[in-house]
Amino acid sequence: AGLLGVHMVVAIGGADMPVVVSMLNSYSGWAAAAAGFMLDNDLLIVTGALVGSSGAILSYIMCRAMNRSFISVIAGGFGTTAGALPAAGATPAGEVKTVTAVEAARLLRDAKRVIVVPGYGMAVATAQYVLWDVGQFLQGRGIEVRFAIHPVAGRLPGHMNVLLAEARVPYDIVEEMEDVNPDFPDTDVVLVMGANDIVNPGALQDVASPIYGMPVLEVWRAKSCIVMKRSMASGYAGVDNPLFYKDNTLMLFGDAKKMVDEVLAALKQG
Ligand code: TAP
Repeated sequence: AGLLGVHMVVAIGGADMPVVVSMLNSYSGWAAAAAGFMLDNDLLIVTGALVGSSGAILSYIMCRAMNRSFISVIAGGFGTTAGALPAAGATPAGEVKTVTAVEAARLLRDAKRVIVVPGYGMAVATAQYVLWDVGQFLQGRGIEVRFAIHPVAGRLPGHMNVLLAEARVPYDIVEEMEDVNPDFPDTDVVLVMGANDIVNPGALQDVASPIYGMPVLEVWRAKSCIVMKRSMASGYAGVDNPLFYKDNTLMLFGDAKKMVDEVLAALKQG
């Protein structure tokens, strides 16, 4: 068992760690169910099977959202350098347009439809509360505000849903990727907050990209897209993001919480 455990963990590819954690959870359930058979203990069989199957279902959902197969997750790490950064020279050439908090507030105020895409950076900055203050302010001015959730946004399944629920964002304006993707062309402003890989167009267009094939939120199809992050650094997958160089993308550099605070202040000042 020890050898099997070491083997399972050594073989993990960098970005697959949370999937493997949920697979190990599942295995622990099946082991408990097996022990239940040996000890003739019905309760152990039932609870073990519940833990085992729920872990397996969760692993499957996470694999599907990342466009990975079970096998490639279990054996994907052999011979690879986990978490390696993209090769030198892989940076897409292009111009990056920046925007200030005041200009971002103006864009939001003039919009009719706004979609907010939260990512890992929102969790790090704990910006969900003030983000929802901005959402409520915009709603108060008759602007439609919705939140778009990618299945692997953040670092845990349901990470963003939990944070938005904490900030009391109503469930009916929090939408799944499949439902919201067709609506981007009719959206005036998308506010991408601390997200990177989940809005990377390279996942759909660049066959050489390590995340090629992962479904993403197609935010670049909106009229304008404000990306809030601290720098041009890559996200979890370590790949550059061509979104930052698109004509309709505006970068708002800074800590997510600080920048949303500034946007809210600018909105209130009119
Ligand atoms: P990431 O691609 O990791 O991007 C997060 C971005 O947030 C970073 O580029 C970072 O840029 C920015 N950031 C960090 N701290 C910030 C702060 N205080 N203020 C503002 N921005 C900040 O996150 P994502 O788009 O949510 O994608 C999730 C990734 O995790 C995917 O690759 C996914 O496959 C992986 N993953 C997720 C899960 C689950 S279940 N959710 C499981 C396994 C793997 P700066 O440093 O420039 O600020």
